Amino acid sequence: RKPQSTMDKDRKMMMFGLLLAAFVSPVIAGEWRASVVRSLDALVSSCVVIPCSFTHPEGNLPTSRLRGIWHISNQRDQCIYHEDNTLVLDNFKGRTKLLGHLGQSNCTLEIIEIKDHDSGPFCFRIELRPKETGTLEKFSFVEQCVDLKMLPDPPKPKLTHLKSAVQGLPFVLTCTVLHTCPSRAPKLTWSRGTADGITEVNREIHAGNWEMQSILTFIPEDEDDHSDVTCTSTFNGGRTSSKTLTLYVKRTENYNHIIIPTVAAIGTALIFAVFIILIVKKYKSRIVELQSQEGSMWNRLSRLSRR
Ligand SMILES: *[C@@H]1O[C@H](CO)[C@@H](O)[C@H](O)[C@H]1NC(C)=O
Repeated sequence: RKPQSTMDKDRKMMMFGLLLAAFVSPVIAGEWRASVVRSLDALVSSCVVIPCSFTHPEGNLPTSRLRGIWHISNQRDQCIYHEDNTLVLDNFKGRTKLLGHLGQSNCTLEIIEIKDHDSGPFCFRIELRPKETGTLEKFSFVEQCVDLKMLPDPPKPKLTHLKSAVQGLPFVLTCTVLHTCPSRAPKLTWSRGTADGITEVNREIHAGNWEMQSILTFIPEDEDDHSDVTCTSTFNGGRTSSKTLTLYVKRTENYNHIIIPTVAAIGTALIFAVFIILIVKKYKSRIVELQSQEGSMWNRLSRLSRR
């Protein structure tokens, strides 16, 4: 850490540099613009990819006329990337690489084996060779710098699922981890499931920040209830982090042992009831018949007795 006074001095010099650049560069260089992500997390011992692009009024320029340089903020001779490796700071030799093609206006930088003092700010500068052989024209974008925030520990993956696990039905588990190194993305592995049940997606959420996702599909069985599933993220450089989830498998309930006897009982009762009703009806008509017969007999008898 620098003493306060030199930091103030640095800041003043940077302000002066900015003013000078703002004043001078449009005159010599026309409207150069660079866009570098302002701030990015970087995992110590892993890698980081810093998105960067630039524009020039003449449009895309051939790579052979361009030279891209990354240097430590307001110390232009302190290069962290230079096509001439001898001009790179010893501390950064072999650790930086321009992933973007300058001919496509892409100045994306990769830094590997991140050390906890690599926080920057790092700035992009471009040099243009004139068409006729002559001296090198230099144009810089001092104002386009990136701050790296050092992460001492890897971020933990997140485990999510939309529906709860049901025995015998496909179950989908998603493991998601954030990272800033798409060129050497973290690898996600599962404690169970087969490779053909796994889908991977790596996408950019916003400038320089990425999300690695692994989607596992499997069919849980009865014995998977209360078992653990772990997703492990292995970052470039070897650091790992993981997240475990306990499965609760819902049984597809089998109600046959209740339904069959119930249906049988109700059926038997119905048949019995119908049977009774029929018998009652039959007997009723019989009784009525008998009664009427009895009646007529009685009438006859009484008529006879009266005679
Ligand atoms: C710049 O280059 C990087 C690395 O090759 C690539 O991932 C990125 O998509 C490029 N950016 C643009 C804007 O083309």
